[in-house]
Amino acid sequence: MARVKSHRLTIANTRQTIDCGTSQTILEAAIMAGIDYPYACATGNCGTCTSHLDAGTVSLLPRSDASLSQQQAKAGQTLACRARPRSDLTVTWLSRGGG
Ligand code: FES
Repeated sequence: MARVKSHRLTIANTRQTIDCGTSQTILEAAIMAGIDYPYACATGNCGTCTSHLDAGTVSLLPRSDASLSQQQAKAGQTLACRARPRSDLTVTWLSRGGG
């Protein structure tokens, strides 16, 4: 059985659906697709890319605890610059009036 190499990623803010490789982060895939996704550090430290995971599951790369609290994670929030897809995803970025 072929391994899945990418998943479908829907950005609710722009109503676009793109491919996100399993070794790509949501942010990387969005930028490559020309989507103006909000971010600053891209390394899990600032929280600018905080997004709500509307559907699907992700695995998170190492990040600062300050950028995504456990409460935020429990509320379904994630960091687009740290999150790699484990399934097809729908996300909403929360800065710039999103969500
Ligand atoms: S862009 Fe800074 S935490 Fe994601």
